[in-house]
Amino acid sequence: MINELFKQMRTPEVFKPSEKVFWQDAHIANYLLAAHLDSNFEGASRNPFFIDKSADFITNLVADPQGQKMIDFGCGPGLYCERLYKKGFEVTGVDFSENSILYAKEKAMSQGLPIEYRYENYLQLKDQNQYDMAIFIYCDYGALSKNARRQILQNIWSSLKKGGQLFFDVFTENKYESFSEGKQWSFNEDGGFWSPLPHIELNHNVKYDNYITLEQTVVLNEEMSDVYYIWNQYFTKEMIISEVTEAGFTVKDIFSDVTGKKYSDKSDTLAILLEK
Ligand SMILES: C[S@@+](CC[C@H](N)C(=O)[O-])C[C@H]1O[C@@H](n2cnc3c(N)ncnc32)[C@H](O)[C@@H]1O
Repeated sequence: MINELFKQMRTPEVFKPSEKVFWQDAHIANYLLAAHLDSNFEGASRNPFFIDKSADFITNLVADPQGQKMIDFGCGPGLYCERLYKKGFEVTGVDFSENSILYAKEKAMSQGLPIEYRYENYLQLKDQNQYDMAIFIYCDYGALSKNARRQILQNIWSSLKKGGQLFFDVFTENKYESFSEGKQWSFNEDGGFWSPLPHIELNHNVKYDNYITLEQTVVLNEEMSDVYYIWNQYFTKEMIISEVTEAGFTVKDIFSDVTGKKYSDKSDTLAILLEK
């Protein structure tokens, strides 16, 4: 076991995938769903006031939302989908967290809202020319490797009708600058976020070149150890424009966040509106 642990403790090459996908771990998924729904915690979704403002802004990006087809990539428990359905869009939400999709489906059903929720990996989505608008919110784009980012942009491009719009956000270089490197550990005798069993958690935050960070967590219990990598690519305005134009999109506008706040080069996030 110690050899395995030594391997897990090493700093990996950039964007090495985790062996376990933390969004899909059954135990962690319960914590994440609670985090999405906790209006005082912004770890998984932003606060309801921000999401309301953002849904208003997204609605105003189209002349009339009635009957417009919208797809939400990484919809989580449907916080955006539900609001956007109520604005008049026909909404499809896609997420590979089974827990979040089940919650979203039950919530929609209990209110009689015909929102389509799909338990699916958005990197494998095959929809063609169907949607007027796509959203991809809370900086999930930057959690993907360069190849995966190319893939998701291609999938979104294919899923949109000609003239369809994509609106999404990324963390900027300002957020990268404020990221603190460091190591810490904790002993969680009664279990915790990463495991229901008593465990030791070893965290390492590392900055890589080219505006990339890693949050590496080794979780060690009596019988085994696991390692999780949370990667983030941060973007300058020029970097994000270059990636999206390479994928064929036209840049229509740039904001500081997905509520449409005026663009500032001091912001920690950047939201970009694109057209196919
Ligand atoms: C940071 S959360 C944001 C949720 C939502 N967009 C919001 O702002 O409330 C990212 C979501 O993306 C989902 N996700 C991550 N990678 C995915 C993939 N490859 N396919 C589908 N969903 C994915 C996660 O399960 C999670 O629900």
